[in-house]
Amino acid sequence: MSEDPHQPDGQPDGQHVDPDAAAAAFEGFAAGVAVASTRWRGLDHAITVTSCTWVSREPPLLLVCVHEDARFLDAVEGAGTWGLSLLPAGARATAGWLATPGRPAVGQLDRVPHRPGPVTGAPLLEGALEAFECRTTAVHPAGDHAVVVGLVVGLAAPAGGAADAPLVRFRRSYHGLA
Ligand SMILES: Cc1cc2nc3c(=O)[nH]c(=O)nc-3n(C[C@H](O)[C@H](O)[C@H](O)COP(=O)(O)O)c2cc1C
Repeated sequence: MSEDPHQPDGQPDGQHVDPDAAAAAFEGFAAGVAVASTRWRGLDHAITVTSCTWVSREPPLLLVCVHEDARFLDAVEGAGTWGLSLLPAGARATAGWLATPGRPAVGQLDRVPHRPGPVTGAPLLEGALEAFECRTTAVHPAGDHAVVVGLVVGLAAPAGGAADAPLVRFRRSYHGLA
């Protein structure tokens, strides 16, 4: 391994880690599954995500990491507002559909019950455990993703979904957390 003058002595610089191996290893992190959504130029856009998290309480901030090639990135950057719906265990089909590459851009929520968020108009999924509406405060490039940070500007009261078990992704499979 070559010496990197920018790294402390003995500190690995990450250059020799196989990216696929690193990504596969992180599949050992059990993650809740959510749908990020936005409405832009008269169309609803939505994608399945696990790279999302709560960031700050005061002010309340969330983030979602979006791949640079995802069509959703253009839409969310253009709209400046977005939703995040936390999926219940029964929503595997929805998660699979909204992660399907190349699905039609038009009508992707036609078979997914949803309603417009009252603050942003972003589509929020019926039956979500919780749903948030956000206004983008920053977009940080990070490798092949963009980290989209949003201020929470709306909370949608779940219609019966709050008591459901969440949908969880672990080692490339979906699980319901009992
Ligand atoms: C369980 C799961 C989690 C995913 N998480 C993310 C994520 O956090 N960020 C992301 O950009 N893509 C994620 N994806 C991939 C997107 O859902 C997928 O690329 C989507 O089809 C992009 O659609 P678009 O090109 O219409 O935007 C995930 C896929 C699955 C199955």
